[in-house]
Order: sequence, then structure tokens, then C-alpha cells
Amino acid sequence: MNLVLLGPPGAGKGTQAKRLEDRHALVQLSTGDMLRAAVAAGTELGRQAGDIMERGALVPDALVIGLIAESMDRHEGGNGFILDGFPRTIGQAEALDRLLDGRGEQVDRVIVMAVNDDALVARIIGRFTCATCGEGYHDQYKMPKVAGVCDRCGGTEFSARADDTEEVVRSRLKAYHSQTEPLIGYYQGQGKVRTVDGMADIETVQKEIDAALEAA
Ligand code: AP5
Ligand code: ZN
Repeated sequence: MNLVLLGPPGAGKGTQAKRLEDRHALVQLSTGDMLRAAVAAGTELGRQAGDIMERGALVPDALVIGLIAESMDRHEGGNGFILDGFPRTIGQAEALDRLLDGRGEQVDRVIVMAVNDDALVARIIGRFTCATCGEGYHDQYKMPKVAGVCDRCGGTEFSARADDTEEVVRSRLKAYHSQTEPLIGYYQGQGKVRTVDGMADIETVQKEIDAALEAA
């Protein structure tokens, strides 16, 4: 099963993708994570993408489509993918259809995570991550059980993203509404969309997604 998680920045795509990976043995493909890894590694791609990401704009389609194609090639024969943060434009959605078609597969479900913009800003600004294992936390909604120690790996170093300032989050939201939201109509036309209430707590959202997948 190939699943697209569609929603604005901070909707909880990454949080839910990690949980789905564990429960359904699917592979999470996050273009945001791939791009941040390229920036950290100082590759040519990272150099091209870094400034754009810090402004909160979208990286050109060709770059992210290339990343997704390479990642899919590395994962032959699994249970399927959770696409987190991709596609983000109609051009990317069409490219995804072609890539999956080449594997004899398709997008099976699109989960739209509905959240209001002001809540998103608060969520993103409170977010931080374990520098060792990448587990995500939030200073109001999800603190480590022992202060300063990662629940998952015991790591004690945490970091925040360069694009998680209020000003940049507003730009990311603008890009979402103008370039990504039209994908909901694209996938509705294919009968694949299920909408979940992304304002509910993390466990409830997880249950809603599971229910939407069972009906797939
Ligand atoms: P990307 O990394 O994809 O970021 P994003 O879409 O802005 O999404 P986020 O990772 O910020 O949020 P999320 O929905 O995963 O929420 P999370 O689970 O962390 O993209 C970054 C940049 O890369 C883009 O701006 C662009 O420049 C570039 N890029 C990436 N892909 C691209 C593409 N395909 N094309 C072009 N450019 C691309 O949750 C947020 C916080 O809220 C966490 O702290 C979490 O603990 C908390 N939380 C989660 N769920 C809940 C809940 N239900 N209740 C309360 N708190 C919650
Ligand atoms: Zn950790």
C-alpha cells in the first residue's frame, strides 16, 4: 500500500508517518528529511536547496522528484511507502503517478490532515528533535518523559530546525495554500482522499488514520 500524507507544515505528517512505519511495516519517504540531510552533508543539491528552504519556499520539482526516484529504487519489494511532504505540486503528483506506474503500483490512499493555521504556528515553534535518533518532541504537547533525555534512544542532545521561526512558517503556509492544497482536488478526482481532524490529539489522529486505511 502506498499512502500520501497531505497537510500544511506542522499538521503532524512526520509524527504520524513514524507511527505508521512501525505499525504497518511501510517505509517513510520524507523529502524534507532528505533535503535537510543534503544540506547538512553540504552536497551540491543541499547547496541549491538550503537558501530556498530557509525562505520557506518550495524547492524546484526536478530536485525533489530525483530524490524520491532514487529512494524508491533503493526499496524494492517492500510493503509500500508513506509519502510525507511529497508530492507538493501537481507536477510532483503527476511524476509520482509515473514512478509508481513503472513499479506496477499506484497511490492507494491520500490522508488529508486538516488543521487551522494559527494552531500550526504554535505547534511548529514549540517543536524540537533528538539529535541522535530524530524522535520529535514539543515543549507543550510531547516532552521527553525524563527531562533532557530522549524516550527512544536515551540521547541528551536536541535541536530545532532553521526554518521553524514564525516568519518562515507563515511563508511555508502560504506556499502550502497556493501550491499544495490544489492536490486535494487532484486526488479527490481519483476517489482516494480521506480527511482526518489533525486538531485532535496525536493518539486520536493515529486511530482516525488507521480507520481510514482499514476501509481502503
Ligand atoms: P518538510 O520537512 O516537509 O516540512 P513541512 O511540510 O513544513 O512539515 P513539518 O515537518 O514542519 O510538519 P509535519 O506536518 O511533519 O508536523 P510534525 O509531525 O513535525 O519541508 C521543509 C521544507 O523543505 C519546505 O518548506 C520546502 O522548502 C522543502 N521541501 C520539502 N519537500 C518538498 C517538496 N516535495 N517540494 C518542494 N520543496 C520541498 O508536527 C509538528 C509539531 O506538532 C511536533 O512538535 C509534534 O510533536 C506536534 N504535533 C504533531 N501532531 C500533533 C497533534 N495531533 N496535537 C498536538 N501536537 C502535535
Ligand atoms: Zn533519540
